[in-house]
Amino acid sequence: MDVVQIRGGKPLRGTVAISGAKNAALPIFAAALLTDEPCVIENVPDLSDIRFMIKIIESLGAEVVKAGDNAWQIRAAELDHVATYEQVRKMRASVCLMGPLLGRLRKAVVSLPGGCVIGPRPIDLHLKGFKKLGCAIDIKEGYVQMDGSRMKGSDVFLGGRHGSTVLGTANLVMAATLIPGITRIDSAACEPEVVDLCRMLVSMGARIDGIGSHILTIEGVKQLHGCTHRVIPDRIEAGTFILGAAVTRGDLTLEGVRMEHLGALLDKLEECGLSVARNGSPDSVRVDGRDLRPAPVDVITLPHPGFPTDLQAQMCALMAVTPGISVITEKIYPHRFMHVPELQRMGADISMEGASAIIKGVDKLSGAPVMASDLRASAALFLAALAAEGESWVQRIYHIDRGYEKIDEKLRALGADITRKNQEEMPAHFLPET
Ligand code: EPU
Repeated sequence: MDVVQIRGGKPLRGTVAISGAKNAALPIFAAALLTDEPCVIENVPDLSDIRFMIKIIESLGAEVVKAGDNAWQIRAAELDHVATYEQVRKMRASVCLMGPLLGRLRKAVVSLPGGCVIGPRPIDLHLKGFKKLGCAIDIKEGYVQMDGSRMKGSDVFLGGRHGSTVLGTANLVMAATLIPGITRIDSAACEPEVVDLCRMLVSMGARIDGIGSHILTIEGVKQLHGCTHRVIPDRIEAGTFILGAAVTRGDLTLEGVRMEHLGALLDKLEECGLSVARNGSPDSVRVDGRDLRPAPVDVITLPHPGFPTDLQAQMCALMAVTPGISVITEKIYPHRFMHVPELQRMGADISMEGASAIIKGVDKLSGAPVMASDLRASAALFLAALAAEGESWVQRIYHIDRGYEKIDEKLRALGADITRKNQEEMPAHFLPET
């Protein structure tokens, strides 16, 4: 198993290219199943989750071939309707195959995904939405069995206890593009990734109104056609590098960024004292953290355009070394604080109060062996290790490889002292007891 060794204390400096968004690309790959014509998807990040999605859609009958650097062509001339537990449990995002299968075949059998380390992640809203469109649903032996033969457009309210649902909205929109009649989704998610999916669907011939708002109206069409679509840049990867510049007092230029997708983060960072400015072209930004004396800020995660939950852990890493007290409250996944005990191992002073982390900034963190529990927690540990004094070993980095393209290479090119190694190369006193 791979681990990374990070010797902290070096500011990140230079230019980094931001990759395509994982969370946009995954449902977009699923959307390609809505037509039997080829779809070409560009700006796809090279990630284990993407490779995994390719395997699943291939097992459903799609042909997937490379179509250039970071581009794939998907053609689902034939399509099966069963996604097994073996497939879905490895990547929860595979639930977003339900929508395309129902749209195209009017039937789907998809395993329930099971537990997730960041807390309960039900799919009741997805199922409620499909039922509202007339889909008969039966849950048997861990599988959702869906008969969509009588589906037709309808009004659906898709808000839940924690707000809107990103993949639930994606699922319903995808199904509705091919379901007869008009579907109106109220309390739809308006994350940039949902907008990107809708744009792709429109270029396939779908009729969708209200893109980017909380009310989406979809008029079902008889069939969709192939298209070429370029995935948006990954706002979470961009946010992670911006926070990396802040925590290491670095100076970074990020290429391929949409500032308008990062409003809540940039607003918090401005409050914190960090300037992030456009750098000539519209998709280039410069983050100069060299003279930063950060001020503590309170953060609450919320659905877009609020502060993204996927940057909460990384923000905790910055606040851990920001003098004063900050409070970070998680409203989307109240249990998503697995990074906290690991940051504490590095000397962070954090106490938990329900779904809030109360962080008293310390002068310095100290390097330590730490364990990644999930994708964004890993990113937080990388940032903490880059800022810490001494050496850290981050274990279970397969989590970070799910969502950050070539993260160690990108960081090394920016001056970080980071090396990917085999776990056996860890010094004996760092190895976990067996
Ligand atoms: N929820 C329900 N019922 C549902 C669906 C969701 O109660 O049927 C709740 C969830 O438990 C959560 C909230 O609603 O409290 C929002 O969940 P959402 O459905 O929006 O999450 P998701 O679509 O499953 C996507 C991203 C996550 C990201 C969330 C929130 C993908 C592949 N995943 O998940 O990304 O945290 O939206 O923005 O798009 C990550 O990249 O690390 C990641 C976890």
